[in-house]
Amino acid sequence: MPDPAPLAVGHAPGKFILCGEHAVVYGRPAIAAPLFQLQAQAVVYPDRECLVVAVDIDRWVRVAAAPADDPFARVVRLVCAELERPLPPWRIEVRSEIPIASGLGSGAAIATATARGLLAAFGAALPVERLSALVYEVEKLHHGTPSGIDNTVVVYGRPVWFVRGQALEPFVPGATLHLLIGDTGIASPTRLVVGDVRRGWEADHGRYEALFDGVDAIVTRARTCIEAGDVMALGKLLDQNQALLDEMGVSSPELDRLVTAARGAGALGAKLSGGGRGGNMIALVAPGSEETVREALLAAGAKRVFGAEMAGEAG
Ligand code: PMV
Repeated sequence: MPDPAPLAVGHAPGKFILCGEHAVVYGRPAIAAPLFQLQAQAVVYPDRECLVVAVDIDRWVRVAAAPADDPFARVVRLVCAELERPLPPWRIEVRSEIPIASGLGSGAAIATATARGLLAAFGAALPVERLSALVYEVEKLHHGTPSGIDNTVVVYGRPVWFVRGQALEPFVPGATLHLLIGDTGIASPTRLVVGDVRRGWEADHGRYEALFDGVDAIVTRARTCIEAGDVMALGKLLDQNQALLDEMGVSSPELDRLVTAARGAGALGAKLSGGGRGGNMIALVAPGSEETVREALLAAGAKRVFGAEMAGEAG
């Protein structure tokens, strides 16, 4: 029998962190933007009970029976609790183009798409900050102590200047930034890397606080460069951020190889993006050198390369 018509569909983009990861967990600023090229989608169908089907990994989750720490069930329960509704007899089919555990916000995007699909099927809406807070609750299952940057950028769907616990500030690039994202193909759970940084910080507060302060200064200057459209200066700041991330111990030989290849092929700057140790790196490119840098990344072992933009005022 063909599927009945869907009740509703929800979407959400991936995200990338331009600069400031890890230090952002310790109250410093970070800059991130949605990655509209990669999307998560949730399609809601009528069914006999409440199910989430993660189509890409062939996982069926019966929400009523799932453990409390199942992220697919958690988002459904949170939406129903928020709306004071019982679990509906619906099947939510989730698909995602965003690689898992690679710093591109897959967990936040899947939770956001699922919540949006459900809300639409209920004929309900939530204020954006409520939805972001709800997705943050799901992020805690993936990350342990997330800063909140992933849910914020994915739910708001625009570039963000993010400081933990503070209201979002409007942030508009003065010119569109062109980026390439190179995937090492190595899954690296953020929770483990964040835990290692915490152990380093506990063992040597002074050293890590100085590294985080260094990142803070770079991110603050990066904002000025982005707002002014000064991509040359921004590229140098991204390189400096990478050096500090390397000192924190969150880079890896594979990431280093991609970063070096991108710079050698003419990128204006390059660094890891997200949790590190694997996952993805980003390279800031001038429009003319995009293809050369893309080829260099693939030759240096990137499993995939995505183009991304951070849209400027006119874009
Ligand atoms: O989800 P990821 O891998 O992009 O990591 C998020 C960035 C971190 O700063 C490493 C962690 C956090 O919660 O902000």
